[in-house]
Amino acid sequence: MKAIALVTSGGDAPGMNAAIRAVTRLAYAEGFQVYGFEKGWEGLITNTFRKLTPRSVGGIIHLGGTILYTSRCDAFKTEEGLEKAAQTLAENKIASLIVIGGDGSFRGAYALSKKTDTQIIGIPATIDNDIFGTEETIGFDTAVNTAVAEIDKIRDTAVSHERIFIVEVMGRTRGFLAATIGLAVGAETILVPEVKINEAEIVRTMKENTAKGKRSGIIVAAEGVKSTNKLMKTIEKETGAEVRFSTLGYVQRGGNPTARSRLLACLFAEKAVELAALGKENSIAGIQDGRITQVKLEESCRKEKPSSPQLVALAKMLAAYYRRQPKNTLAMS
Ligand code: F6P
Repeated sequence: MKAIALVTSGGDAPGMNAAIRAVTRLAYAEGFQVYGFEKGWEGLITNTFRKLTPRSVGGIIHLGGTILYTSRCDAFKTEEGLEKAAQTLAENKIASLIVIGGDGSFRGAYALSKKTDTQIIGIPATIDNDIFGTEETIGFDTAVNTAVAEIDKIRDTAVSHERIFIVEVMGRTRGFLAATIGLAVGAETILVPEVKINEAEIVRTMKENTAKGKRSGIIVAAEGVKSTNKLMKTIEKETGAEVRFSTLGYVQRGGNPTARSRLLACLFAEKAVELAALGKENSIAGIQDGRITQVKLEESCRKEKPSSPQLVALAKMLAAYYRRQPKNTLAMS
């Protein structure tokens, strides 16, 4: 019987368990045995796994986190670690390794692919949604919904106290999460690492809002934006408004996956097992224009996902509700 190794690596993302369940059951149907390696790459280095069966992955589709555990494994970044992992794959006669994780995990998988003949397949799962080759990753939708629910609560205080809140969301060095959350909560301003902060413009927006009778505001900032502290002081000084800072933190990573995150997990798993059955290229599953696709692992690791400035622009337009002017002047309607 051919064997598939399954590992969840890097930051946990809601929907990883749904992917574990789907991979195991689909692989079993294809005649594979499934070895679930524990604690991310660490499990491959220490050869720690348990056999997964269709029954053993029952009752987990709705659970956040990962039943296989995960880690950020420094040892895997060394030649020795990679060689040990390759040895584990060889010893257990693993035909295909399926990695459920984010961009760091895929870079690790690519490094490992140079040391092993085992086919490597990636299933994108990260709340950051920053993987090249897929419009969405498992867990992103859940994190967006969690953050939106939390910021809606923060808005109650913002409105009641007539305060401006800068709410920091995750996303590492990219702004996909912040842009989507910001648009969905009706943020007055969205700050993403891809765009330099324009303090003067933000202050002008806040002043215009006050002139319109709007006395509170939400600024959604990606964690990759480093100058929020300075911005807070500038807004306070220039507008006289009370400004508060709130970090959402790890609540964004946990919780039951949304239907959309579970669905994506099932669809990516189907593609991953199909690729394992073919047994050829090192690839990742992706979604493009509503279709499940295959992207080369190397390509996904080498290229950077383009950012989506239209979300930030639309949020700005919706929050300001001004007429578009040919000369880029802000006319109040
Ligand atoms: O990649 C997911 C993520 O939650 C990022 O948004 C965040 O920057 C990072 O992981 C936090 O990493 P750690 O789990 O190592 O604290």
